[in-house]
Amino acid sequence: EFHLLPKEVHFSFDGPFGKFDNQQLQRGFQVYKEVCSACHALKHVAFRDLAALGYTEAEVKAIAAGFTVPGVDPNTGESTMRPGAPTDYFPSPFANDVAARAANNNAVPPDLSLITKARHEGPAYVYSLLTGFQDQPAELLKEFPDAKTPSGLHYNPYFPNLNLAMAPPLTADGQVEYGDGTKSTVDQMSKDVAAFLTWAAEPKLEKRKQTGWPILGFLLFATILGYMSYRNIWADKK
Ligand code: HEM
Repeated sequence: EFHLLPKEVHFSFDGPFGKFDNQQLQRGFQVYKEVCSACHALKHVAFRDLAALGYTEAEVKAIAAGFTVPGVDPNTGESTMRPGAPTDYFPSPFANDVAARAANNNAVPPDLSLITKARHEGPAYVYSLLTGFQDQPAELLKEFPDAKTPSGLHYNPYFPNLNLAMAPPLTADGQVEYGDGTKSTVDQMSKDVAAFLTWAAEPKLEKRKQTGWPILGFLLFATILGYMSYRNIWADKK
């Protein structure tokens, strides 16, 4: 079996007490912005949503203005491109799927808004995919010579069909210079962008996890109360 399950990797948002680490989300956003957004949109995430990561209104405005989004010319009514505003969503860099395919060996880079939900063990999968590019194992080629990676595709055992049209996007330590001084190894950048994409797919994750505790507390209280009243009601009916 040459397809691998995601690597074991731990995140601050794992488990019932999990929380996002805003520093990490900001680093992950930096990776998305400087690397991934060259090909991938986040059509369900608006620039203004970044306020949740701790960016100020001015920073959000500046980030938005750095992207080009489709708009309408107010004078002619024709479609045109304009700088983004905080209310816009992270756009695709390609005008359409034909242009996307033309630039990516006939594959369309998927929208990443929900990728951590769409794939099994999403955050670990994204991390594994980004750190998993490698040469094809000799045993694979020996056993299945026809499985040789076609030119223009890239071997990655974490991708279900083993070869994908995305070239390794994170290849060198220091590729992104982190604002918070964290060392940007390929491993660190991969983990950070996986965390950011988890937030993108479920910004209310903390709320969901934290809502459960008072509910469990109430159910426990109600159970004890119910048991005590049962004992009380039947106490003299032995
Ligand atoms: C596919 C993540 C950068 C082009 C994917 C997939 C993920 C991903 C999760 C989907 C794999 C799946 O379907 O299970 C990322 C991240 C990036 C990044 C986190 C930045 C660190 C890029 C860049 C390009 C690109 C810069 C273009 C130069 C593609 C293409 C596919 C793809 C064409 C489709 C591959 C296929 O279906 O064969 N990417 N990507 N990606 N990505 Fe990226």
